[in-house]
Amino acid sequence: MLTIMIDNQELEVDPGTTIIEAADSIGVYIPRFCYHEKLSVAANCRMCLVEVERAPKSLPACATPVMDGMKVFTHSAAAVQAQKDTLEFLLINHPLDCPICDQGGECPLQDQALGYGDGTSRFGEKKRVVHDHNIGPLIETEMTRCIHCTRCVRFGEEIAGVMELGITGRGEYLKIDTFFEREVQSEVSGNVIDLCPVGALTSKPYRFTARSWELINHEAISPHDCVGTNINVQTLRGEVKRVLPRDNESINECWIADRDRYSYEAMASTSRLTKPMIRTAVGMVECEWQVALNRITEGLSGVIESHGATALGALVAPMATLEEFYLVQKLIRGLGSANVDHRLRQVDFSQDEHAPLHPGTGVPIETFSSLENVLLVGSNIRKEQPLLGLRIRKAWRNGASVSSINSLAYQHNFGTSADVVVPPSEIPGALARVLFQVCRNRDVAFPEDLNAVLESMNAIERTEDALATIADSLSKGGEASLIVLGLGAINHPNYGLIGQLANRIAKLCDIQVTTLPPANSAAAWLAGCIPHRVPNGVAASVTGLNAAQMIDEKLAAYLLFDIEPQIDLA
Ligand code: SF4
Ligand code: SF4
Ligand code: FES
Repeated sequence: MLTIMIDNQELEVDPGTTIIEAADSIGVYIPRFCYHEKLSVAANCRMCLVEVERAPKSLPACATPVMDGMKVFTHSAAAVQAQKDTLEFLLINHPLDCPICDQGGECPLQDQALGYGDGTSRFGEKKRVVHDHNIGPLIETEMTRCIHCTRCVRFGEEIAGVMELGITGRGEYLKIDTFFEREVQSEVSGNVIDLCPVGALTSKPYRFTARSWELINHEAISPHDCVGTNINVQTLRGEVKRVLPRDNESINECWIADRDRYSYEAMASTSRLTKPMIRTAVGMVECEWQVALNRITEGLSGVIESHGATALGALVAPMATLEEFYLVQKLIRGLGSANVDHRLRQVDFSQDEHAPLHPGTGVPIETFSSLENVLLVGSNIRKEQPLLGLRIRKAWRNGASVSSINSLAYQHNFGTSADVVVPPSEIPGALARVLFQVCRNRDVAFPEDLNAVLESMNAIERTEDALATIADSLSKGGEASLIVLGLGAINHPNYGLIGQLANRIAKLCDIQVTTLPPANSAAAWLAGCIPHRVPNGVAASVTGLNAAQMIDEKLAAYLLFDIEPQIDLA
């Protein structure tokens, strides 16, 4: 440990700690723009200049590692002058936009100009203006306000893995832009809005609709995947105005996916059904709630009377909440049927009895960042679970080997050691090949019952080397290895076989298998919104029909909860 002093406070820190990290650890605030703890150090804004004893000039706190015996002064006359000078330079070309800037009220530049800057400007010349390009429907640009901190550029390069914003030009002409004037495509692009310390990048849908001090904050959890992303939902007079990340290092860190950030827009969509409607001779017409509820009650009672309760089934959207899943299954089971399911796109249910309490990662989410070997099966993790995709990217940047067996050549945001693309029907065969090689590596016999699967694969020549690479890296085993089954596996007609093969490989290699189902599926399993288990995973006394069977059987009545059957069902 090194002993240093910051503003006359003594502290001990690890070697390699920077001055800004050390100051943060004892609550001494050093102003900053370009520094962000999740990004590499760029040290280009110079806002964090501090005085260090015996250093000939002020040093940037974000880029200066501490040394034993170092004495740092963050509020000395020299430090204050250096910070004031930096702000004066930063404000030379900055517009006086605060009254019409969405960042107003939550702007680090505004705050630091007040806290560390001068009251007046000595710059009387014309300011530079940057013309904006449209970078898509989510992010508004006002690049005249940009202070070139490059946080947005580093986010794309380091975190998202998609280089969409970059620096062009030099000096007076330097600007942040998309190189080819195209829209940003990343599934986590909105995070640059939170990172941008000024109003250069703001949320397009939120633009000019509210001021930050008017909003009421509500802590919430994102409903879009089973990851449990922590979010803040902010409302004005009862209407959701924006959704922001809520820091949680063990789940989403400080990021959210664009779907978490922007899907609130659908809440006020004009195409939403906001009043009950019933079908009449002249089509669908609006009615009172009681009329609609009576119609449902009569309909269900009529079906039960004439066909029996088992002629009734409920199909529930996997986006529903835990409470909704629970209530739907309670209603259906209360009426005497056990036909209830949320797995609308799944077609193979053969492994239901052996399924765990609920699908999920099985390992803490934060461990995804430190994985050493990952095999993705039927998974475009970047789009399906964007935040887990970011963690796998982080693991890959730390040296992990990531491989995939998919039926499409997805554009991953990490490099792969082996990327096997085969027709969907050959995914089990490809996994059997991996198992075959693992058996060979472990010197055990390949299970005879899987010989036919092994031989079913046609694309052997093209994929043999890649599959052997996958098997060799999984064979290393250990806690830091994982097989991930994505939606392409879960919705596969041979899901049961894929799961069985993945589990056999995992058992031989002593590693884990993770299943990543859509939306809030884990809650549906826990709430008993499945035909073979009641709440809390208890086996049902009567097993009902699953989603696919309910359709095949052509039941007399269906209760559809939040679904559009022609779009949502397999
Ligand atoms: Fe004002 Fe900040 Fe907007 Fe600049 S970025 S105009 S300082 S609110
Ligand atoms: Fe920094 Fe914002 Fe400019 Fe990007 S747009 S460089 S985040 S000020
Ligand atoms: Fe240190 Fe920008 S925060 S140079």
